[in-house]
Amino acid sequence: MCEPEIEPRSKTASKQWIERMRYYLQVDPAGCQVAVGEDGGVIGFAMSQNRGDVWYLATYGVLTRYQGQGIGKRLMDAALAHADGRPGLFSSTVHPAATRRYRLAGFTLHPQMRMVGTVDRSTLPAVSGLREGRADDFEWMDRLDERLRGAGHGPDHAYMLERLRLVVSDDPGRPGYVYIDEEQGRGVLLAAAEPRTAQDLLWEALAASRGDTLVNCVTTANHWAVDVGLAARLDIGQEGYLAVRGMAEPTPYLASGHFL
Ligand SMILES: CC(C)(COP(=O)(O)OP(=O)(O)OC[C@H]1O[C@@H](n2cnc3c(N)ncnc32)[C@H](O)[C@@H]1OP(=O)(O)O)[C@@H](O)C(=O)NCCC(=O)NCCS
Repeated sequence: MCEPEIEPRSKTASKQWIERMRYYLQVDPAGCQVAVGEDGGVIGFAMSQNRGDVWYLATYGVLTRYQGQGIGKRLMDAALAHADGRPGLFSSTVHPAATRRYRLAGFTLHPQMRMVGTVDRSTLPAVSGLREGRADDFEWMDRLDERLRGAGHGPDHAYMLERLRLVVSDDPGRPGYVYIDEEQGRGVLLAAAEPRTAQDLLWEALAASRGDTLVNCVTTANHWAVDVGLAARLDIGQEGYLAVRGMAEPTPYLASGHFL
């Protein structure tokens, strides 16, 4: 999710956040904008990235005491100038100032569901036709990304593979992949050519969970994921929006909050 700066992060999460910001700065520095106060300190930021023909917003925020003064609008305008008309997407909070900004900038807001709970392991089906993914899978994964969201993740795949487990469909006729965060026991990005493969990949991610898990960024076009979550006895709630411009909501697809 495009991250609000409200609750202080844990030490580990802060470290990961800083690492990710460094990465965005390295790959596409022109998409990274900060607002600076009179004393020279950073009071707001919009970190966005172009990957081929797609733009995404990774994180966006203005310090609370500076909000509502037009700083967010200037940051968003700069980020969108960087997009240069590319289709774009990001996962948004429900913050009223944020959603106002996004709709005024022409984004369609697709409500997202999230499913939480502990997987009832007796419901886990035997899934076949999957294997561990490798860097030489990136080429077809990017082609699949292009079909689903207009452009591949490009270098983001390598960044994710260094930190996450990648599971892919072994059948080139029905491609799909999921990244699994084994620390948190959940899938963080899932893409497939058709819903059945997507469901198999989500089951694999659920099988990797320990204790409470989370399936998020589920838009209404992705009810295939709701069916898996319900079968695993997770509970459905609502959480923010997938904001898209110049594209349909991707499906079968569960976006990554960080790399969309
Ligand atoms: C979203 C955010 C970055 C916008 O920055 P900002 O400097 O407050 O934005 P602006 O002042 O340029 O614009 C906010 C707009 O929302 C309106 N607004 C502000 N607070 C509002 C509120 N509580 N309810 C409704 N509208 C509100 C403002 O009037 C303004 O609209 P206008 O320009 O048409 O009058 C900032 O509010 C923020 O950091 N929010 C918390 C973190 C967050 O949710 N980030 C987004 C993650 S996806």
